[in-house]
Amino acid sequence: MNADDPWYKDAIIYQLHVKAFRDSNKDGVGDFAGLMSRLDYLQNLGVTCLWLLPFYPSPLKDDGYDIANYEAVHPQYGTLDDFQRLIDELHRRGMRLITELVVNHTSDQHPWFQRARVAPRGSPERDFYVWSDDPQRYRLARIIFTDTENANWAWDPVAQQFYWHRFFSHQPDLNFDNPAVVEAVIRVMRFWLSMGVDGLRLDAVPYLIEREGTNCENLPETHAILKHMRRVVDDEFHSRIFLAEANQWPTDVRPYFGDGDECHMAFHFPLMPRMFMGVAKEDRTPILEILGQTPDIPANCQWGIFLRNHDELTLEMVTDEERDYMYREYARDPRMRINIGIRRRLAPLMDNGRRQIELMNALLMSMPGTPIIYYGDEIGMGDNIYLGDRNGVRTPMQWDASWNAGFSDGDHAALYAPILVDMPYNYMAVNVAAQERTSTSLLRWMRSLIGVRRKYLAFSRGTFRPLYPRNKRVLVYLRERGDEVMMCVNNLSKHAQFVELDLHEFRDHTPVELWSEQPFPCIGTTEYMLSLAPYGFFWFRLMPATAVTSD
Ligand code: NOJ
Repeated sequence: MNADDPWYKDAIIYQLHVKAFRDSNKDGVGDFAGLMSRLDYLQNLGVTCLWLLPFYPSPLKDDGYDIANYEAVHPQYGTLDDFQRLIDELHRRGMRLITELVVNHTSDQHPWFQRARVAPRGSPERDFYVWSDDPQRYRLARIIFTDTENANWAWDPVAQQFYWHRFFSHQPDLNFDNPAVVEAVIRVMRFWLSMGVDGLRLDAVPYLIEREGTNCENLPETHAILKHMRRVVDDEFHSRIFLAEANQWPTDVRPYFGDGDECHMAFHFPLMPRMFMGVAKEDRTPILEILGQTPDIPANCQWGIFLRNHDELTLEMVTDEERDYMYREYARDPRMRINIGIRRRLAPLMDNGRRQIELMNALLMSMPGTPIIYYGDEIGMGDNIYLGDRNGVRTPMQWDASWNAGFSDGDHAALYAPILVDMPYNYMAVNVAAQERTSTSLLRWMRSLIGVRRKYLAFSRGTFRPLYPRNKRVLVYLRERGDEVMMCVNNLSKHAQFVELDLHEFRDHTPVELWSEQPFPCIGTTEYMLSLAPYGFFWFRLMPATAVTSD
């Protein structure tokens, strides 16, 4: 059977960590039962698919991306039965679930690694990981966690060899040249897909294979393995997807889609910092340049786009000059930086400017790809740059102004991370309940935005065509699908702007503004003029005059 239902193209994905959402048993850590109790909230927001960060048994030195058992649930989040209940309930609501397949590496506590280090050299058990006597091998591979690691090899005193790790040294890389590893990974995949998981985010997917003389990223052998895994999915399951986490330039990501026979989706990493750059520079150029460099993808594939996630706002896929600019604009305090990126949430990045936050979300919901919302950003949650690693953007969800922000009824001191108390992001001010009370809140605005987006398939599946009006502070593009012709006009500037649009191909069409459903003046023979408020945006549907009725 083929994954022929393109649900992922029309999805609104919401990314969350179970530990951060809602604690049902007062231990200070969120759990599946807590998450279940908040599904109404997510469904009302317009979310159609959850993406859960790792919830497997783990020493939690990399927030669960260091897995010690692939086929179980960490007891602090609940049981496998709880997880099954979650899937069933999501499906009952017509929602989907994406989980993590973290197979580039395991925790060093994983039994496979413990077995490997004591097994004889050259044995299949030892060969589950990548070993060497010489730590000079694969020298062209870059270091990813530059703040903590200074090599990709670590010495194992038990094995008396070095092992390869692209991330933390407690995360040894699996050896995908060993067919037994590929089989083991497929087994894990089957395990979760059989429970009903709809999609797998393939963590750190460019690094599966190493070869001397290369940077050990995106190698043909890696693609061959992914295609093999995809065949298994298509042969044995229906409508399941792969979402590739490949933080690479668009031309290097393109092969992850294959001929429509590898991954269904891939994150568009380089677009993300350029949205922030566009707003800071008040110039559409960075956004249009990167989209111009983005190759077409097969018809059954889709980009995943996002503003923020659980990691740093990565600046790996920008030039040195652009990186300096981003640090200057968005991370003056060194505490805001980590590795090659910025560890902050959306609202603080926008200096809590409501118009800026709205504009960024309007871009997220109208640019080509499936939007992914990071939990808490829909209410403008802040961050805590005094917490280590990337934990500052992983603090508990703020539900209301009560004890522990309504996240947990347990002790303050028991919380896995402190609630945000500093103004203006204090949980008493920024929380779901408060925002439900006012019709002008960000949360309620987000709900409308998502509602409008979901009404028109042109936003999820339409083509993307930029227009180039003289005023570069204004970013304009068309999203077209059949008779749905959407025109999105975005003012990236902090000042009011006007824009003159050459819309001669739409002469006699009426732009109907999508939120109010108000017709604007008809497009005539001269350039179409629009004025925009600071950080203002319009979404129009261009309708043939005959199709428009006005009151
Ligand atoms: C990518 C994940 O997004 C990140 O959080 C993690 O630290 C690395 N993979 C290593 O697993």
